[in-house]
Amino acid sequence: METNEPQLKGLKRILYKKYQDEKPEASVEAVSYDNEKKNLTVKVTPSNPKYLKMVEATIRDFKGRDRVRKLKKTENNFMLRNKVILERQYNFSFYLLGKDGKFSRMEKTMESIREDLKRIEEFNRKSAEQNNEKGDLVKQIPRIKRNWPNSSAYAQSLQNVDFSISKKYEDLRKARFIPNSNVKYRSLIQGAGNFGVVFKFQINDSFYAMKCFTRASQYIDTRYYEISKGIENSKLPFLIDFRYYSDAVRTTARPAEYFPVITMGWIEGKTLFNYIQENFSDSAKMNAVARQFLQTVIDMQAHSIAHGDLSGDNILITSGGQLKIIDYDGMFVPTLKDLGSEELGHESFQHPKRGKYYGPKLDNFSALIIYLSLFAISKSPDLWKYNQNDPDKLLFDINDFNNPGESAVIRDINKIGGKAKRLMDLLLQFLKNGPDWDGIDLQKIMKMR
Ligand SMILES: Nc1ncnc2c1ncn2[C@@H]1O[C@H](COP(=O)(O)OP(=O)(O)O)[C@@H](O)[C@H]1O
Ligand SMILES: [Mg+2]
Repeated sequence: METNEPQLKGLKRILYKKYQDEKPEASVEAVSYDNEKKNLTVKVTPSNPKYLKMVEATIRDFKGRDRVRKLKKTENNFMLRNKVILERQYNFSFYLLGKDGKFSRMEKTMESIREDLKRIEEFNRKSAEQNNEKGDLVKQIPRIKRNWPNSSAYAQSLQNVDFSISKKYEDLRKARFIPNSNVKYRSLIQGAGNFGVVFKFQINDSFYAMKCFTRASQYIDTRYYEISKGIENSKLPFLIDFRYYSDAVRTTARPAEYFPVITMGWIEGKTLFNYIQENFSDSAKMNAVARQFLQTVIDMQAHSIAHGDLSGDNILITSGGQLKIIDYDGMFVPTLKDLGSEELGHESFQHPKRGKYYGPKLDNFSALIIYLSLFAISKSPDLWKYNQNDPDKLLFDINDFNNPGESAVIRDINKIGGKAKRLMDLLLQFLKNGPDWDGIDLQKIMKMR
């Protein structure tokens, strides 16, 4: 029997069989143009990302010069970024190579690039109009949509301060980054979470934290500007003034783009989670930290501030026993109310119906969870077994919130009786209501006997 199958061996043969009906196909679209830097970004979306191995672009400029660029692979696409003068004539030719060696070419003209950009501009204009309904604050600011570097890209770049930190910030360029002393291998990363990665640095005799973003909330500039003002004005001693730099750090892989960071004083201390782990059998300490914690939330509420993500690792206890609250990504301050929330907080500390709620009562649920956990541990240290060594919770998790009737920890806390039981009754009622339920009064809880 005759067959068209070429004589291939090994992997090539397997790939040929797997992809024999495929040929490299993709759509090519200009997605953005930076007017200042004259940078054009073109996205190549393969019809089968698994099959497409490589994309290369040959860019012929208006003087007839050719330049070949290999495209950067993202999760499902290939991206080209190149300096282009929009008014001039260029020609883009894309070479698409499949895993089995088959290839194809696609042309893209300047006319169609200009059309793509016009369409996107139109789209952005329309969504900006829709956003106007969100109020004045939103109107003034462009949405930042970016691909963010990951933790290790930042860690690697910050080894070389001279390269990574923008010449704009002479003060920051004096930073000396300090390896994490808690890990065996050498790493600059001190902590990494939902939104970013934290580094420790020294300038002269002072130590600071720098947070770089691996994901970011929309309107990041505005958010941090308003939060920083809110914290400064509140003068609350457990909130730490920070500085936001909108364009301070770049990475080796993307030298043309500077990313935002925030810096603040370094707090020498333990996370609440570690503090409990070391002291859970000390009832006086647990009780003291419970009260101190509740008071911080009461004080924030008096300034109409809510943290939004109170949890075992966003609360630090200094060696002097002072409580400090960090990680302001999800903070509510009244001037931000039109922006809404994007950060939903640690699941084990949040009301299951939190949804998009964003307002001054944002901390009520997590405050009750943390206070009740600490109080219950102070009465019955054995309860700490329910933590199961999980730094993302204290005693409760989402299953307890969803099925309180079947929860062993809820049963055990109720057995303590007295105030523990009364706090638990409050929690159960809270779960039946929404996150902004008005049955919670932290002052009353503080006075509860
Ligand atoms: N100012 C600071 N002082 C000391 N440690 C800090 C400071 N800021 C952050 N950290 C450490 O880094 C971790 C991550 O920081 P955080 O701001 O909570 O980021 P994420 O959004 O990633 O949770 C924290 O849990 C804490 O251990
Ligand atoms: Mg955090």
